[in-house]
Amino acid sequence: MKLVRLIYASRLLNPLSKPQVQQLLSTSRARNGPEQITGYLCLSSGYALQCLEGPRDAVNRLYNRIAHDPRHEDVTVLRYVEPWRRLFPDWNMGYAGTLSQAAPSSARWRDATGFNPYLVESDLIENVIESLCEQLERVALVD
Ligand SMILES: Cc1cc2nc3c(=O)[nH]c(=O)nc-3n(C[C@H](O)[C@H](O)[C@H](O)COP(=O)(O)O)c2cc1C
Repeated sequence: MKLVRLIYASRLLNPLSKPQVQQLLSTSRARNGPEQITGYLCLSSGYALQCLEGPRDAVNRLYNRIAHDPRHEDVTVLRYVEPWRRLFPDWNMGYAGTLSQAAPSSARWRDATGFNPYLVESDLIENVIESLCEQLERVALVD
């Protein structure tokens, strides 16, 4: 099996409500599991940033489905690599709804609305997602 990691950013047409996010995550987790797809989804009111990892054919198929989803636009691949291991082996789709607050506060990745994933350099995007994920774990521990 050829393992690939695809990371994309998109613009949400409308912010997703909590029930909409829950619905999206439960559909995603149910469908990703049998395809051996794992990953991480970060949302803010304006943007989505998602990492998909798994067998190449399955990831490509899923990406094409997601790219046609009318809930977002400007779906843009930021990175596509064949990694030696998964970043998120345990999650059929991990989730952070705090893109703006949790992201590194580097000024060059910000616009008027806060963190803008389109501005992150391709070779740094994995670190940014990992740091979002760590931040989320810290928040979860404090709670
Ligand atoms: C930001 C975003 C992320 C998504 N992530 C996934 C995902 O990881 N897995 C998945 O099956 N669907 C995901 N979807 C939903 C798909 O676009 C699609 O609606 C869903 O898979 C059902 O597809 P179907 O109606 O063609 O059967 C995502 C949608 C959006 C807007």
